[in-house]
Amino acid sequence: MKIAIASDHAGLRLKVELVELLLSRGHELDDLGTYNNDSVDYPDFATQVALAVREGRADRGVLICGTGIGMSIVANKYRGIRAAVCTSEFEAKMARAHNDANVLCLGQRVIGPGLAGTILQAFLDTPFEGGRHERRVQKIRDAEEGK
Ligand code: RB5
Repeated sequence: MKIAIASDHAGLRLKVELVELLLSRGHELDDLGTYNNDSVDYPDFATQVALAVREGRADRGVLICGTGIGMSIVANKYRGIRAAVCTSEFEAKMARAHNDANVLCLGQRVIGPGLAGTILQAFLDTPFEGGRHERRVQKIRDAEEGK
């Protein structure tokens, strides 16, 4: 799978661990930063990943900041992006199966690397269920168009 990943300084350590995990599992990665501990602004990185997913340069996106919240707020401003902050494997499965989420947001200050890896794997492995959920996701698209 093609995955775009990025973090701010508060998510960098976790991003480095998840990059290793994803590469070891054979995924194609676009690491869009940040690359050092200098303080940066999470909206800049959320925007890069949101655009990579929206434009089809990546199948899924992963964003990491201190809590995952700021990244999700920004990513969800972009049409076609359904970003979900997840702190459990169950949430990650539901975000995919019911919401067809295409960006996973994680908080380095909230969860440890082991749990983050489990959440990420569930996010990548779980298919969208479709059916009644397709109708609801279509209503999200309608809301984006102001309908
Ligand atoms: C940075 O200190 C922190 O505010 C940011 O990483 C994130 O948690 C925002 O939602």
